[in-house]
Amino acid sequence: MNLPGSPHVAYRGDDLSLEGQSVSALAQRFGTPLYAYSKTAMLDAVAAYQRALVGRDHLVCYAVKANSNLAVLQVFAQAGCGFDIVSSGELHRVIAAGGDPAKVVFSGIGKTRAEMAHALQVGVMCFNVESEAELELLSEVAVQAGRTATVSLRVNPDVDAGTHPYISTGLKGNKFGIAHERAVATYRRAAALPGLAVAGIDCHIGSQITDTTPYLDALDRVLDLVEAVEAAGIPIHHLDLGGGLGITYTDEVPPSAEVLVKLLLQRIDARGHGHRKVVFEPGRSLVGNAGVLVSEVLYLKPGEQKNFCIVDAAMNDLARPAMYEAWMGIVACTRRDEPPTRMDVVGPVCESGDWLGRDRDLAVHAGDHIAVLSAGAYGMSMASNYNTRGRAAEVLVSGDEAWLVREREQPADLFKGERLLPAR
Ligand code: LLP
Repeated sequence: MNLPGSPHVAYRGDDLSLEGQSVSALAQRFGTPLYAYSKTAMLDAVAAYQRALVGRDHLVCYAVKANSNLAVLQVFAQAGCGFDIVSSGELHRVIAAGGDPAKVVFSGIGKTRAEMAHALQVGVMCFNVESEAELELLSEVAVQAGRTATVSLRVNPDVDAGTHPYISTGLKGNKFGIAHERAVATYRRAAALPGLAVAGIDCHIGSQITDTTPYLDALDRVLDLVEAVEAAGIPIHHLDLGGGLGITYTDEVPPSAEVLVKLLLQRIDARGHGHRKVVFEPGRSLVGNAGVLVSEVLYLKPGEQKNFCIVDAAMNDLARPAMYEAWMGIVACTRRDEPPTRMDVVGPVCESGDWLGRDRDLAVHAGDHIAVLSAGAYGMSMASNYNTRGRAAEVLVSGDEAWLVREREQPADLFKGERLLPAR
């Protein structure tokens, strides 16, 4: 039976499988909570972007924040991807995974002097600069390092991506990007400052976008700016259209990456910008549907108003429901031939906000495994140690192999680096 999301996550008979491997068997082998990812699903997802970009000067920069496991980065590096990073830490990860720094774009509104110096030293492809103050500092750091920083300005196109307010980034009231009206002046400043070379323009309007209209509107705004900037004598070589494409959690029907990219390229060509390199920064759409979070049912707790299904994964493992009230599919790893009960699926953390799903119909017993679907993006990468819970293990499945790509955190890992006060 097909489930929403990836064809690589499906029931085989009554058993949930990932690339054909039993998810319960993975849970037994590696323990729970467990993030399990399908490599093939990731490769299929990136291939959809690449197919639409064939014959075009392009770079797909995987947004590391979505899932920053080294093996995941390695998969994308080997598929020819570049990376969109937002910290020095992510840059270290990309390099450790074998990624090419010359294919890295560095985004984010709060780059520190040290992060700039690190990125310059390894030679990233481009800094996506988000403010005039950042531009001044980058120039200073580059001059000091005797290097040239290649820059794009992230412009705020002021379009509504129609998504959750916390993950919408392209509106005027957001902290991101340079206001449309300030863009030409800021480009002039960038062109005048020492140590900087203007290369492109960048925008990113939000995440989990399921409609093509905001993308096309943002593109039009960006192309208007490109024309204005070039009229001011500053050439723009690449267009970075950000990430943001949504996935199916329940009944969303986002455009496929191939359709979206083709539409954008058509508009780019129609407006006479077809000669420019295009860059995308997808995160969720490359990994979201490729992963599940597997958890064991600890207790069933029936109640007068609510029934609870208490599982061993919690908000520290998967923050999206608690943080955005995000709806994520939850299924039994082995289906039982019993009528389901309506329950809230909750974790052991001491907060009422610690839930993974509300009012779900499930037929499960204590000791069964459940899987949270489409958990490959912003799951493990947002996990914390809250309640001094060790973070989950991660496993990458490929055909009939399953690789442990991150060990479960052990108690000793949890307070490593902490110090007792000296004895009196
Ligand atoms: N580029 C930039 C500059 C970004 O800020 C982001 C995501 C991306 C690319 C990748 O966007 P994606 O293709 O994954 O939508 N934690 C939230 C999502 C936060 C997205 C932050 N920026 C969630 O779980 O829904």
